[in-house]
Amino acid sequence: MLKVGLLGAGRIGRVHAQAIAAHPYSELSAVSDALPEASARLAEEFGANARQSQEIISDPSINAVLIATPTDTHSDLIEAATQAGKAVLCEKPVDLSLERAFACQSVSKATGQPVMVGFNRRFDPNFAALKAAFEAGEVGKAELLSITSFDPAPPPVSYVKVSGGLFRDMMIHDFDMANFLMGDLPEVISAVGTSVVDPEIGAAGDVDTAVVTMTYADGRIAVIKNSRRAAYGYDQRVELLGSEGMLQAQNILENSVVKSTSNGVTGAKPTYFFLERYMSAYRAEWDAFVRSVNSGSGVPVTLDDGVAALAMAEAATRSAQSGQSMVLAKVLKPVAK
Ligand SMILES: NC(=O)c1ccc[n+]([C@@H]2O[C@H](COP(=O)([O-])OP(=O)(O)OC[C@H]3O[C@@H](n4cnc5c(N)ncnc54)[C@H](O)[C@@H]3O)[C@@H](O)[C@H]2O)c1
Repeated sequence: MLKVGLLGAGRIGRVHAQAIAAHPYSELSAVSDALPEASARLAEEFGANARQSQEIISDPSINAVLIATPTDTHSDLIEAATQAGKAVLCEKPVDLSLERAFACQSVSKATGQPVMVGFNRRFDPNFAALKAAFEAGEVGKAELLSITSFDPAPPPVSYVKVSGGLFRDMMIHDFDMANFLMGDLPEVISAVGTSVVDPEIGAAGDVDTAVVTMTYADGRIAVIKNSRRAAYGYDQRVELLGSEGMLQAQNILENSVVKSTSNGVTGAKPTYFFLERYMSAYRAEWDAFVRSVNSGSGVPVTLDDGVAALAMAEAATRSAQSGQSMVLAKVLKPVAK
């Protein structure tokens, strides 16, 4: 039985608490939060103890830590937890700063502890099935990948200001999905971004609508489209065109009813947002973590995967700001000063 400490009792912390408590081989032992009332509430709900993060990290009876705190705390907590001998599942992104993430990567690698990054979409049954069909050679060699990821509504500007920007906060999932499906990192990243949804997002120095194109050493292309607003709900689709056909993962709809009348043919909207769309993915993600830690096999999404996606977000941010294409290798391995 994996004894787990959950750090962060906010929106996503609650989702993870459910998965940890429901899993037959894990037990939610303790919960911490900067707000004592938040950890007390969640701990009580799941029969766990409310404790301080540092207490949880230094408790030798706790085997694993799930980090669901704000992004700017992730590297510090990953380092502290791995140095204390814990297996870690940390929410995305690894950090807001790529330099800080590089440092965290070396510190935690030296401990030998497993660190998984919370790219839950890899565990979505639809995207996982698309990947399996591609790996089975059902559409031949990949040529063009298109990822569409639109949120239903923009977050408050107060959130935008601390989020690290759309590329690090939101598109990071799509960068990881591209890496997952293409099996390689792109060579060159070009981004354009604009704020047409909410001018206050632009005034805060961020974009709310963006397109990234990525080219690979062997000539393949990937395109990612993000928007902070889609009037019809959470739009999450992937299309992979291969030499022998195409694989598409469509949206999950609120229901499967299609109404056909003399006015036309209509159906339900996509499920509202990530909590509705990806609940099964969060559970499968936790199951994959528990299995890998219990069996001693490598975690399926590594800290290196997290740092790679963050470097892509950094490259895209710089490209959108400068109007220049970015060579990813120069961002991933900066020339030593
Ligand atoms: N994978 C996903 O789909 C997904 C979805 C949402 C959020 N996230 C990520 O999860 C993280 C948390 O996001 P959220 O939406 O749950 O935020 P949130 O603000 O709802 O929750 C964060 C909680 O952490 C607490 N906290 C702050 N500093 C802390 C510290 N040092 N120790 C312990 N607790 C601390 C806060 O009081 C808050 O309750 C972010 O990094 C975000 O990018 C991932």
